[in-house]
Amino acid sequence: MCGIVGYNGKNSVTDQLLNSLELLEYRGYDSAGIATMNKKTGKIKIRKCAGRVADLRRICENDKKISTCGIGHTRWATHGGVSDTNAHPHRVGDVLLVHNGIIENYEELKDHFMLHKDLKSQTDTEVVAAVLNRLYDGDPHEAIRKAVKYLKGTFSLVIMFVDRPDVIYAIRNVSPIVAAYNENGTMLASDVVALAGTADQYIVIPEYVITELHKKKIKLFDLNGKKVEPEFLEIDWDTTRAGKGKYPFFMEKEIMEQPEALRATLDGRVVNGEIDLSVDGIPDDILKDCERICVVACGTAMHAGLVAKAVIQRNLRIHMDVEYASEFMYEDPIIDEKTLVLAISQSGETIDTLEALKYAKKKGAKSIGIINIKGSSIARESDYVMYTVAGPEIAVASTKAYTTQVLTLLLLIGRMAKVRGIFDEETEKIFMDNLLQVPEKLEEVLEKKNDIHKIARKILDAKDAFMLGRGLDYSILLEGALKLKEISYIHTEAYASGELKHGTIALITENTPVVALVTQEKIKEKELSNIREVQSRGASVVLFVREDFDLADAEYTDVLSLPVMTGEFMVFPASAALQLLAYYVSMDKGLDVDKPRNLAKVVTVE
Ligand code: M6R
Repeated sequence: MCGIVGYNGKNSVTDQLLNSLELLEYRGYDSAGIATMNKKTGKIKIRKCAGRVADLRRICENDKKISTCGIGHTRWATHGGVSDTNAHPHRVGDVLLVHNGIIENYEELKDHFMLHKDLKSQTDTEVVAAVLNRLYDGDPHEAIRKAVKYLKGTFSLVIMFVDRPDVIYAIRNVSPIVAAYNENGTMLASDVVALAGTADQYIVIPEYVITELHKKKIKLFDLNGKKVEPEFLEIDWDTTRAGKGKYPFFMEKEIMEQPEALRATLDGRVVNGEIDLSVDGIPDDILKDCERICVVACGTAMHAGLVAKAVIQRNLRIHMDVEYASEFMYEDPIIDEKTLVLAISQSGETIDTLEALKYAKKKGAKSIGIINIKGSSIARESDYVMYTVAGPEIAVASTKAYTTQVLTLLLLIGRMAKVRGIFDEETEKIFMDNLLQVPEKLEEVLEKKNDIHKIARKILDAKDAFMLGRGLDYSILLEGALKLKEISYIHTEAYASGELKHGTIALITENTPVVALVTQEKIKEKELSNIREVQSRGASVVLFVREDFDLADAEYTDVLSLPVMTGEFMVFPASAALQLLAYYVSMDKGLDVDKPRNLAKVVTVE
């Protein structure tokens, strides 16, 4: 979704802004723009266009590099179509502005301030610029303070006033802004990826705090004008990891990084052969006392929650719900002070998940965030946080974030079982052995990438595909199907194979590839028998199967054997195989694997 950057310093402002916008491209966008100012000459330039940052770069090619500060934006259209005019920055009178979020009452504001003549675009953003311009009387703080009182919705606003060419102002509600500085200047962005390589530390701008970006310092003030002391967080990502390295796409790199990410996620959380969550500060009491568990999450993160549900209900016998965060609060969920809410999110900024978490907290629930990005909004809103240590995930399709989320959930579940006295010695040993083997077992699947590539070639031309499995296999396939559909554009349905006979089997034809997953001892016979049913209807079946399962003499179009792990741990090898399958289909179709159409990496609108 929209990306924001700002820079005030001695480097070339245009280059700095364009480079930072490139780093934010992964969020998903459809137009881009920058506005720059020169302190000495007062000259202001706005360059913007529908299209990519590369197009914007071409437009800026012949601009003289004399500006001293500037703001930039990548836009993911919500209000108003994709056009040069609707791209940010917007200028109205003395105010230049970029915005992330949605202003819900922008139509009312147009009428209230009689702005219609001032506006050229169809965006809610330009309305904010116009409101600020009306309220601006030479005092930026006063104008910002007054303006935000009128705004309903979520926003991060980054603003320049034409008579203040040496300061960038910012304020936010919900939508994030982070800032940092180094010897060459100060910068801000909508996420920390844009700051990678520029500083060791960053600040998460608190909500409703007016931020001033000067050449050498960042100042924060509350709405009463009182100074706010910034709180610094470490940027501990190896910035060289933000590039694609030897891989053609980030997605492949991130799939291949999984063993390393999983090891990092385990690191420090297994002490003397036992799960120990003291590094995360999770008190045993909340794991012991909760009577029900509820996951709020979206997309892939929600699928990670489904895997946890299968494990928790089976092993711990605790009632668990896994909810789409976007539906959660509209369904009158059963939540109270005995409920433990797990908010799972890679970005930590998904607004639906954030709002669902806030709702659950209001009802008295305790909460743990399972988050990848430090200091993100959901991390700050959660009572406790377990960070997945996946490192930056740039491809829109989530891979290493998913497997590290599942591993983090298993660590939590393992600790829960321990403090509730559920595991006997033998069960605990099997659990711990499997937990520690996750990285290497997943690695074994990555070594089979050429076999998976061959299978992928056979489904390139499919219009529809099915993924069949039962129980935990079905939950794993929901994620596998999401991967395939989002990057290959093949309509793919994951189906609980026992349900097929109740309708869906009518869609099975010779031209419909079926990917079947069989990894669970208890139900394998039933799964294999469901597969035979679709084979009898002409379907060509690719079987992903635990390698020690006997397939008798049944025939499949292709069989990929998966390294053996116990029960729920099969999620790791199976998911890696499904990720590679989706990846190769998309790549061989010549698609933009990392940036699938219409999608954004960080979803900050409801
Ligand atoms: O950042 P989050 O984990 O909260 O994002 C939630 C979903 O948007 C995300 O998991 C999405 O489904 C994946 N990128 C799809 O691969």
